[in-house]
Amino acid sequence: MLLLPLVLLAVLFPAGDNQDAFQDPIRLHCIQISSFANSTWAQTQFSCWLDDLQIIGWDRESATPIFLKPWSKGNFTDAEVKELVEIFRVYYFAFIEEVQKHASDFQLQYPFEIQGTAGCELHSGGVILSFLTGALGKMDFLYIKNHSCVPAPEGGRRAQKFCTFIHQYKGILEIEDTLLYKTCPGYLLSILEAGKEDLEKQVKPEAWLSSGPSAGPGHLRLVCHVSGFYPKPVWVMWMRGEQEQLDTQRDDFLPYADGTWYLRATLDVKAEEAKGLSCHVKHSSLGGRAIVLYWGYSVSVGLIIAAVIVPCLILLLCLALWFWKRWSYDGIP
Ligand SMILES: *[C@@H]1O[C@H](CO)[C@@H](O)[C@H](O)[C@H]1NC(C)=O
Ligand SMILES: *[C@@H]1O[C@H](CO)[C@@H](O)[C@H](O)[C@H]1NC(C)=O
Ligand SMILES: *[C@@H]1O[C@H](CO)[C@@H](O)[C@H](O)[C@H]1NC(C)=O
Repeated sequence: MLLLPLVLLAVLFPAGDNQDAFQDPIRLHCIQISSFANSTWAQTQFSCWLDDLQIIGWDRESATPIFLKPWSKGNFTDAEVKELVEIFRVYYFAFIEEVQKHASDFQLQYPFEIQGTAGCELHSGGVILSFLTGALGKMDFLYIKNHSCVPAPEGGRRAQKFCTFIHQYKGILEIEDTLLYKTCPGYLLSILEAGKEDLEKQVKPEAWLSSGPSAGPGHLRLVCHVSGFYPKPVWVMWMRGEQEQLDTQRDDFLPYADGTWYLRATLDVKAEEAKGLSCHVKHSSLGGRAIVLYWGYSVSVGLIIAAVIVPCLILLLCLALWFWKRWSYDGIP
């Protein structure tokens, strides 16, 4: 049993460039966010993610999951998918109803929000660990440890009371246990297999430079844009020669709809110090090479083309015309 994940890991991480296609561990998690506005109005949203990649969404109208990738169902049969969807639909409606029914027992004051995160993660070596945590507002409330509900310290007496309450529902706990410790690991391994081609794809970044709003008079903000790359890990740094400029600021990664990423790295410098700076980009899709863009260089290359090559061409053309005319007149007897 332990061998299979090891083999899979070897397939997923062939020695070479795309070793960092995934962080370790590989994390599959589903998020539930339930907002309760008042005793009659509530809304729940589900989504499931493989690391940063969303693979399942939720259609609130029909209360059904949306499988976002062709491989989002893993190796589950249609019957298995149907059964799971049914479990989630029952849970979806029952959760809201039960929380509204017991809101006052647990001193929950409207409006409030409940978040749940559940899933499993594959560690190098093939170990799969499952997890489930619940939060109330921004506070940790409870988690599952060794198959049972444990109140989080921040959850206080209310969380203790809730864990005692939920332990009465043996049926629910059994289903949850199966989903967490059996369904999740099997599903994770099967989507890694089914989606292998997609997950291991390598998309090269494009990079360009621009200047941002300056940090003050006599200063320049140099912006290095890196766009459309996959997988996510990337190294972007402003450098002077071989020296990394440690003031380089990296913004947050922004996702594109096609699953690729955008990142920018900025550096504030005195205007006269901008010359000689360059932006370096390293990414698994580039092999061992880096993209290097020199500040001011791309502009001058354009200018050189405009200022030198175009007049040269015109001059050549004039010369050619002149010679041609001379030659044709000379040809006239
Ligand atoms: C409950 O909240 C919803 C959404 O904010 C609102 O439209 C509705 O009028 C509220 N109902 C009551 C009884 O307060
Ligand atoms: C986990 O729980 C079981 C009983 O449900 C118990 O026998 C076992 O000792 C627990 N293990 C740990 C590490 O707490
Ligand atoms: C689906 O894949 C998992 C993990 O690879 C495996 O344990 C399970 O037996 C597979 N199920 C079927 C029906 O092939």
